[in-house]
This record gives sequence, C-alpha cells and structure tokens, in this order.
Amino acid sequence: MRFADPQRLTPFVADIFRAAGSHDDEARQIAEHLVSANLTGHDSHGIGMIPAYLLHLRDGFVHPNRQPVRVGGTEPFSVFDGQMGYGQPIANAVTAEAAAVAKRHGVSVTTLRNVQHVGRIGAYGEQLSAQGLLAMIFVNAVHAVSCVAPFGGSEPRLMTNPICIAIPGPQPVLLDFATSAIAMGKTRVAYNKGVPVAPGRLIDHEGRPTTDPAVIWEEPKGALVPFGEHKGWGLAFVAELLGGVLAGGPDSSEAPGQPRGLVNGLFMIVMQPDRLLEGGVFAQTAERLTAYVKSSRAADEANPVRVPGEPEQAARQARERDGIPIDETTWRQIVHGATALGVEPPSFPERDA
Ligand SMILES: NC(=O)c1ccc[n+]([C@@H]2O[C@H](COP(=O)([O-])OP(=O)(O)OC[C@H]3O[C@@H](n4cnc5c(N)ncnc54)[C@H](O)[C@@H]3O)[C@@H](O)[C@H]2O)c1
Repeated sequence: MRFADPQRLTPFVADIFRAAGSHDDEARQIAEHLVSANLTGHDSHGIGMIPAYLLHLRDGFVHPNRQPVRVGGTEPFSVFDGQMGYGQPIANAVTAEAAAVAKRHGVSVTTLRNVQHVGRIGAYGEQLSAQGLLAMIFVNAVHAVSCVAPFGGSEPRLMTNPICIAIPGPQPVLLDFATSAIAMGKTRVAYNKGVPVAPGRLIDHEGRPTTDPAVIWEEPKGALVPFGEHKGWGLAFVAELLGGVLAGGPDSSEAPGQPRGLVNGLFMIVMQPDRLLEGGVFAQTAERLTAYVKSSRAADEANPVRVPGEPEQAARQARERDGIPIDETTWRQIVHGATALGVEPPSFPERDA
C-alpha cells in the first residue's frame, strides 16, 4: 500500500483533470471531491474513479466545463439539466442553489438530470447540514450494463442507486449509502486487491450466491443484490423513480445496452428544521436521543455504538493523520492515465496496511 498525503494528492488529481481539458476551478472541485471521498473512508468513490472518468471523457460521454442549466420549476421547485458535464462541479452548484432557495422559502425541492457521475452523495449532504439545513437526496444511476438484480431476480436491472439523509446538529447525522448490499466501487477495490467480498452481496450469472468480485468485472457477469432484501430493493426502486423518472432524465429501462458513461439523476428535498420545531428544540432533543442510543452497551467493545456519519468523521481524522491508503493496482491505473496526459505523479511512501 502507498499512503498518500491528501495535501499533495489533491493538486496531482487536479493536474490530471486540467491536462484533460477542465478549467482550473472544475479540476479543483473534482479533485477535492475525490480525495475527500477517500478521506471519509469511501475509496470506492475516491481517486479510484479517475480511470473511469478518463474513459468517459475519451468516449465523449462527459463534457468538460459545462454548467447546470435551470430548465423548469417555480421556486421553491427547481429542475436542472447537467448538460452531461462532470458530476461534482455541477452537483456542487445545484446544491448551493438548493440551499439558497431553502433559506428563502424554508424548503426547496430540486432535481438534476443528465449529469455524469456525481460521486459520493454524502459530500452534498455535508455541504447542506453545515449550513443548518436538513436534506434528503435520492439518486439514480444509469450505465450501459446494469449491475443490481431486483429482489427475487437473477438478472441485473438497476445500478446501485444511493440515498442520503443529512441532519444538522452538534453531532451532524449523515446517512449515505448505496441501495445495493455492496457499492459497485467496493467490488472494484476488492477485485483490484484480489480479495473476496463478504457473503450475501453478490450472485453469479446463474443467480447463485458468491463472494468472488470477479463476477462483476469479468464475463460471464453476475450481479449485486439489494441490501435488506425486499426493503432495500424498494428503496432502490424508489430512488430510480425519483432521481431518474421524476427528474426527467434517463432511467435504467431507457435503451439498456446503450453506452453513456455513468449518468446520475438527483431528487433533493432541503429544509430548515426550525420551520417545524422552533428555538433549537430539535437540536437539543436530537442530542439527548443520540446520547441515549449510544449508551447501549457495545456487543463488541472494540466497536461502540455509533450514529450515521461518525465512521466518516473518524476515517477523516485517521487518514488526514496517516495518509490515504492506495492499493498497487489502483495507483498503477491512475499513474497510467496521468502519464498519458503528461502529468508527473508524485511519490508516496509504501508500507503494510
Ligand atoms: N454516485 C453514485 O451513483 C453512487 C452510487 C452508489 C454509491 N455511491 C456512494 O458510495 C458511497 C458508499 O456507499 P456504501 O453503500 O458502500 O456505504 P456504507 O455501506 O459504507 O454505508 C455508509 C453509511 O453507513 C453509516 N455507517 C457505517 N457504519 C456504521 C455504524 N457502525 N454505525 C452507524 N452508522 C454506520 C455511515 O455513516 C454512512 O451513513 C456513498 O457515499 C454513496 O453516496 C454513489
């Protein structure tokens, strides 16, 4: 493993996107988002995405330096089209607009369609909760080849459709997960490391349970299963309806097999919590509730009860201190892309993970 200093990694990643045609600000926003995903422990949505983004650029699916265009809705409703630009800068801009509208009206309801991969949805939730806003975000993802089988199905029909709920407070809550039993990127990380995934996450091409991540990355392809059986499947389907169909963008039933990069659609409700419960009562009571649930004695002392968002905070502290671990395959793929663009990779110390 290499351990990368985030302060040196971020400008290197920005240099790659700048060399690939993005303006400074766009390259910086993509780099900051990817490195921040690694810092929060979500390597599946960190710099390991760079090779895929460069392929999408080469194939003409993502267009540098596009801005979101407002195409409909009357405040507090807004409909944005991402013009197939890079997801992170476009979703950052739309999130900022959703926050501004929620501050004017108490609530905003926003959709974003036709945007390439927006990355870790929690990043947008964090931006909103840092401003005292509560957010619920449902996202669909569309790719030429789907990877998640419906509950009870043996062939994939959807992607990993993430959902994020961000709640502000002294201990901000960030619930942010893929609706598959494992995120697609985590199967890539396991495949690159040559390790199995936990049981109950994957099926092979005949619908049989397996722990081998190769079923996602090699033919014949299997599928991820939804988390939480029929309940997770229900959330995945709802995210497709809201993030895809209601946002007016593509959904997984539209031209399956058509190459299009990795397209996301977002449905976002943002609100000021004190419009419902005034005088900081919500924050105070949430603090009491948090302390109460965390008072449950841990079944395993090494793993105390935590609330959603705490694992990401802990990972950030540890990785800012110790560096971001990058496996050999991922680093080789990134260096290959960088070198082809004339960007010199920095060197980072290697040690056992
Ligand atoms: N853009 C896309 O198309 C797309 C698609 C899928 C996933 N994603 C992103 O991938 C990332 C990873 O998703 P994932 O499903 O692998 O996440 P995950 O399984 O690691 O779950 C993360 C969530 O669970 C919480 N959590 C973890 N351990 C906990 C514990 N012990 N106690 C309490 N809460 C705990 C975390 O705080 C977080 O809210 C997310 O950021 C998601 O937005 C993006």
